[in-house]
Amino acid sequence: MSDNISDDVDRIAAVIIMAAGAGTRMKSARPKVLHQVAGRTMLAHAITAADALAPERIVVVVGHGREQVEAHLADVAPDAVVAVQEELLGTGDAVRCGLAALPGISGKLVVTSGDVPLLEGATLRAMLATHRHHHNTATVLTTVVPDPTDYGRVIRDDDAPDAQIARIVEHRDATDAEREVAEINSGIYVFDVDALRAGLGQLGTDNDQHQIYLTDMVSWIRARDGRVGAHLLADYLQVEGVNDRVQLAARNGQLNARILDGWMRAGVTVVDPATTWVHAGVDLAPDVTLLPGTSLEGATSVATGAVIGPDTTLVDVEVGEGASVVRTHATLAEIGPGATVGPFSYLRPGTRIGVHAKVGAFVEAKNAVIGEGSKVPHLTYCGDAVIGEGVNIGAGTIFANYDGVHKYTSTIGDRAFVGSNSVLVAPVQLGDDAFVAAGSAITGDVGAGDLGVARGRQRNISGWVARKHASRNDTGEAVK
Ligand code: UD1
Ligand code: CA
Repeated sequence: MSDNISDDVDRIAAVIIMAAGAGTRMKSARPKVLHQVAGRTMLAHAITAADALAPERIVVVVGHGREQVEAHLADVAPDAVVAVQEELLGTGDAVRCGLAALPGISGKLVVTSGDVPLLEGATLRAMLATHRHHHNTATVLTTVVPDPTDYGRVIRDDDAPDAQIARIVEHRDATDAEREVAEINSGIYVFDVDALRAGLGQLGTDNDQHQIYLTDMVSWIRARDGRVGAHLLADYLQVEGVNDRVQLAARNGQLNARILDGWMRAGVTVVDPATTWVHAGVDLAPDVTLLPGTSLEGATSVATGAVIGPDTTLVDVEVGEGASVVRTHATLAEIGPGATVGPFSYLRPGTRIGVHAKVGAFVEAKNAVIGEGSKVPHLTYCGDAVIGEGVNIGAGTIFANYDGVHKYTSTIGDRAFVGSNSVLVAPVQLGDDAFVAAGSAITGDVGAGDLGVARGRQRNISGWVARKHASRNDTGEAVK
């Protein structure tokens, strides 16, 4: 056998993810595994970790809130097999249900849980390598946590580092001496399928909860001369679960810190990790700078040299090289290379800002294409607009895109100039180099190079102010 035991590439038959539990302490209408950590459901994290093993099948055992869980799975893991656990009879029963959905499989199988969002695929691979290296029948992922209360304790044969596990005893079933054991069961295992199938049918419910405990497989296997080893994980946070919203917040913060560490090591400057949030699905290039109060969500990507923040939330936004996005809230938008956005900009879905274009303070854009080098610098609503290159949209311009029934698009030609405080009543088209006089209410097209003026004509009244004053006395009262 090769020394590099992690190089083993044989596919495993399946990963069974247990996700049927009620999650009562979440006090939520939403099943526990559908709560999010770093922008993804805990179940999606479990699927990602399982995927790292490239198993032939992934089975998710559902029960509580199964319709919601199944709908979510159809979305994030359409190839996953769903096994329904009708009654929550315990973890042993959950795995029995999962196995029942995999008739005829053999080989090795990994069992994990839907509520351990920090678990990494690399850990599962290392556990599998240990399993193979020691020719175990079962391998338990174990760790030492600061407070082992409520966890199952791992009782080994003796103190040798690679001593086999004799049995696992649940906290509630443990003696005081057993509760002194610091090594806990993570609830994550590798099993040889044949042994698992044979054992699960024979496990009893002789425990405090009268449940079928998967952990009882350990003593079952040992009684039949199988080997049960431990894969001891130093990084215990990876297997810390979520039972309530306090733990949910803790895991969310911990995973965020890990994500930020990863990006900082990859060359991203994060000025204040304590107030910066980056979801798991985000992609950042080297030499991106994230200023305090930045939240990057969904499938957001940021190219090199861009500076984001402070106080900016981007959801599914693509930011080009060297762009600057200051105090901005944006969803499903594209910000081109060298573009500047903010402060105080609101970009709604379908906004595409061109190369070196500018969207400034108190500008809201929706379904708007803003061409290369064009400027929408101040106080504008820019909805359903197609703006060419080199355009200037004056302060306070409103694209009136809605007549109360339908929405219409307005089109602005290259190098056009829209004077301040104009309303463009859609649908209108301004040709290339067109000019709109400030304060216009434009309801018809303006041709290329033409001036559009649509406002009351100015009238000056000579000497009006002096006559007005003369008609008042010193206290400002009108003279009769
Ligand atoms: C289990 C382990 C314990 C371990 C701990 C780690 C057993 C008996 N105990 O305890 O040794 O330290 O996990 O977190 O296995 N589930 C089902 N169907 C069921 C019961 C549970 O799908 O009928 C799922 C739950 O949704 C959860 C997982 O299995 O994802 C673990 O169940 P849980 O009840 O939380 O087990 P613990 O008591 O925490
Ligand atoms: Ca648990």
